[in-house]
Amino acid sequence: MAPSMTVLFVTKLVLILQSMIREKLLAFAANSLAFVHYKLHGFATLNVSTVISGCIGPLDAEDKEDQDRITTERNTALVVTAGPSLHYPNPPNPDKVLYINKKEAPLLKVERGVPVTFSVEAGHDAPLYITSDPVGGNATSRNVSEIIYAGGPKAEGVPATPTELIWLPDRNTPDLVYYQSLYDPKMGWKIQVVDGGLSDMYNNSVLLDDQQVTFFWTLSGDSINIAARGERKSGYLAVGFGSAMVNSYAYVGWIDGDGTGHVNSYWIDGKDGMSVHETRENLTHTRCRSENGAIVFEFTRPLAPSCSGRVECKNIVDPKTPLKVIWAMGSQWQSGRLSVKNMHSVTSNRPVRILLLAGLAEAEQDLRPVLAVHGFMMFVTSGLLLPGGIMAARYLKHLKGDVWFQAHTYLQYSGMAVMFLGVLFAVAELRGFSFKSTHAKIGTLAFGFAFLQPINAYLRPHLAENGEILSRNRVIWEYLHIFTGRSALVFGVIALFTGLQHLGHRYGSKNTKGLTCGLILWVVSVALVVLYLEYMAVKRRRDGGADGHSGKWVLGNNEEEDSVDLLQSERSSKMESNSTEPMEVQLEPLKG
Ligand SMILES: *[C@@H]1O[C@H](CO)[C@@H](O)[C@H](O)[C@H]1NC(C)=O
Ligand SMILES: *[C@@H]1O[C@H](CO)[C@@H](O)[C@H](O)[C@H]1NC(C)=O
Ligand SMILES: *[C@@H]1O[C@H](CO)[C@@H](O)[C@H](O)[C@H]1NC(C)=O
Ligand SMILES: *[C@@H]1O[C@H](CO)[C@@H](O)[C@H](O)[C@H]1NC(C)=O
Ligand SMILES: *[C@@H]1O[C@H](CO)[C@@H](O)[C@H](O)[C@H]1NC(C)=O
Repeated sequence: MAPSMTVLFVTKLVLILQSMIREKLLAFAANSLAFVHYKLHGFATLNVSTVISGCIGPLDAEDKEDQDRITTERNTALVVTAGPSLHYPNPPNPDKVLYINKKEAPLLKVERGVPVTFSVEAGHDAPLYITSDPVGGNATSRNVSEIIYAGGPKAEGVPATPTELIWLPDRNTPDLVYYQSLYDPKMGWKIQVVDGGLSDMYNNSVLLDDQQVTFFWTLSGDSINIAARGERKSGYLAVGFGSAMVNSYAYVGWIDGDGTGHVNSYWIDGKDGMSVHETRENLTHTRCRSENGAIVFEFTRPLAPSCSGRVECKNIVDPKTPLKVIWAMGSQWQSGRLSVKNMHSVTSNRPVRILLLAGLAEAEQDLRPVLAVHGFMMFVTSGLLLPGGIMAARYLKHLKGDVWFQAHTYLQYSGMAVMFLGVLFAVAELRGFSFKSTHAKIGTLAFGFAFLQPINAYLRPHLAENGEILSRNRVIWEYLHIFTGRSALVFGVIALFTGLQHLGHRYGSKNTKGLTCGLILWVVSVALVVLYLEYMAVKRRRDGGADGHSGKWVLGNNEEEDSVDLLQSERSSKMESNSTEPMEVQLEPLKG
């Protein structure tokens, strides 16, 4: 008794275990398929659907249930011919009707986002077109309006020379349209349009922060089609345009108690329910559904609202500038009065900047520190070291020894080193170099001029022995040296401003306004200092010229290996016609 009971029990247990394992395996297989589908998008869809229809087996031509239905497949052309009407589904009917893949006026089923190819060979008198009109045969000629989605008078052919017609049902194609002949009514039949995968229906998609929401979009003319799919269960899904939920334009998709999906737009200017204001944006083609508890919603909106004054009118999407997108999910939403219950339970930590035209996204914060370092280094270079070096060369010459020369070279070389590092930082951060932006162009000019200088300095022609005759080459060289150096500085400073402008485009102009003002102040103060120094120098030369002592420092410099000061005197005489006279007067006796 007892052993047989045990055997029975064990057998049962094994059976249960077996069925559990089978279930798990099946679930696993289904999951993997779904995963493959998700990863490979459209291509896998075909594979999956092939597998499924393979289970049903090849369709029997005699099977009336299936004969008048055709589900289109990607990359497989539907052959459109004409033939006698035997059991046309929509009598009264003409003698000749359209056949697709040898089936008489079947019901076509197509997926949005998946192109349908027709090989039209129904004769020259039966061009194919896809229309919103159930009767066809050119509704316009019957004083009925119709929308034509594809085809027309040219979409006609015969079996020897078929014409290919490709039609792409998009997300705005209605659920039911018709294929018909353009010349005769009631030759074709219905096309059922179903939603394809979002990745088929939209050209671009990116994952938002935390990878919990996928954002899809297609730009079409002056409007944009947008879809958002939650990757986890929730009662509502919201995506917002802005850096944070506060001060953002939010689009919320939710399913109400009756199971109806809604999409609505809001302007949020605070943290509580009272600060969520419904807006009257012109959203069209809105849909919201729940896929296994995860919300998917779609809408189409104009890029720029055609109104003014109200807050939603400022909600402009400019494809050329990055769009900052955030998200939130919660358990419950309702239109009208919102309450604490509408609080989100999960939300993105940071906005993702979406480049709508490029179809790319980048997380915002990652970019900042490195670019800030780049900016700071460039400021140190163009705002401090390079002007410092130039000023040293210009205003420190009256000091004894080669102080000015040392200061000049040290400042310029360190400026170049910092500049080089700064460029490396930017290039590394942006993963490459592009000349597209003004900032990059001007920065490159500054960089180029700056790095001409050491080469230039190395090649400088030496002065004639006693400095009496400045060689022609030397004069040219001096001009070149001054010109390149100052160009590098000017372009460097312009690059600072364009860089700030660039930063403003990326992160909003709020943050960069202060920096720009600061930079302007800095440039102005440096200019004032230069003016003052210039004034002092002129004054010194005048005084020097008057009492005849200033010759000393010229002489002192003259003993240097390179007699750089002579070039300075020559340079100043050329540069400032005002101060020319006293300078030359004092130089001559000394050299003699
Ligand atoms: C399924 O996918 C594989 C690999 O992507 C491909 O080689 C194969 O042709 C596909 N099957 C069908 C029926 O298209
Ligand atoms: C339909 O007929 C009207 C004239 O009745 C013509 O102007 C129009 O081009 C036709 N439509 C097409 C798609 O051929
Ligand atoms: C179409 O409508 C116009 C006026 O709107 C009328 O003159 C014409 O006779 C109508 N044609 C048919 C075929 O009904
Ligand atoms: C989006 O896809 C459609 C159809 O494939 C294409 O016509 C359109 O040019 C694409 N738009 C962009 C911006 O890539
Ligand atoms: C929506 O469109 C209507 C008319 O087409 C316009 O009056 C209204 O201002 C638009 N609203 C927005 C937010 O663009």
